[in-house]
Amino acid sequence: MKTFVISGGTDGIGKAVALARLERGDQVVVLGRDADKGARIVAAAEESGAADRVHFIQVDLSLVDATRKAVAEIRSRFAAVDGLVLCAQHFRSTRLVTEEGFENSFALYYLSRFVLSHELADLLEAAPAPVVVNVCGPGIPMGEVRWDDLGRERDYTGIDALMQGSRLNDLLGVGFARQRPGSRIRYVLLNPGGVRTSFSGEYDPAMAEQIEAMRKAAKPVEEGILPVLAALDTPPDQPVSASMMGEPLPLEGPAFDAEDADRLHELTVGLLAARTA
Ligand SMILES: NC(=O)c1ccc[n+]([C@@H]2O[C@H](COP(=O)([O-])OP(=O)(O)OC[C@H]3O[C@@H](n4cnc5c(N)ncnc54)[C@H](OP(=O)(O)O)[C@@H]3O)[C@@H](O)[C@H]2O)c1
Repeated sequence: MKTFVISGGTDGIGKAVALARLERGDQVVVLGRDADKGARIVAAAEESGAADRVHFIQVDLSLVDATRKAVAEIRSRFAAVDGLVLCAQHFRSTRLVTEEGFENSFALYYLSRFVLSHELADLLEAAPAPVVVNVCGPGIPMGEVRWDDLGRERDYTGIDALMQGSRLNDLLGVGFARQRPGSRIRYVLLNPGGVRTSFSGEYDPAMAEQIEAMRKAAKPVEEGILPVLAALDTPPDQPVSASMMGEPLPLEGPAFDAEDADRLHELTVGLLAARTA
């Protein structure tokens, strides 16, 4: 029996992956914000006789302290984690700053994934073939990392914040592998393409219309999770890899730049250290 931790496991791709792993006899830890959705997953597991293999942790992953509390809870219960699947995401047409002072999209889409990846790394190392599947947006030729304004105080738009988050996650994958030479952990940056999910977010009317059109054209979630399940079953050989709709992407160009990855790593460590202090 393998153990999978799934952030954003209460809806969309994360939920479908959680249910698929439970069905196969694995153990899952679902991280999500909505207690009712968490209870429904637990109830579904109970009905299928998997009650002892599902663990729901209610957590607002836009908060570093709360994310670290969830990490501590996972550490207290499990000695090893075979796979970490990162899916939590929430779009915001209007800019929001968390009570910890980070812009919400930066905090949730990037910072929580940095904390979960690095602070669960030793539990991953304890598994035989560990893998992190970061479900994000590699291969999309959009998004600028605004190094002097990661919280996008200037001219915020939800799309810019989302696309910057995708670029930050690309660099997170590259940086993770560079910080851990010789590690057995495989870091997979995975863009599933359009998948019909809840598209969690607060959208202005124009964006809501676009999302509705995207949802209609998107593939069903059962199909969208196939590359995620494949990466969990057979982690790639390379320490870090990227794919879009099942097709491998070369780790070339500015999106995967090693110097930028190191720079972002140092910057993030600094932000988190300042928070701890
Ligand atoms: N769907 C697509 O077409 C598509 C395409 C490309 C990439 N992706 C990427 O795939 C990943 C998964 O997307 P999805 O569409 O499957 O997601 P989704 O259906 O929108 O679900 C989002 C998940 O994130 C959780 N979440 C949101 N805010 C949270 C918070 N503050 N704290 C904790 N959990 C929070 C939600 O939990 P609650 O509901 O419990 O709040 C939910 O489980 C995302 O990173 C997305 O960028 C998706």
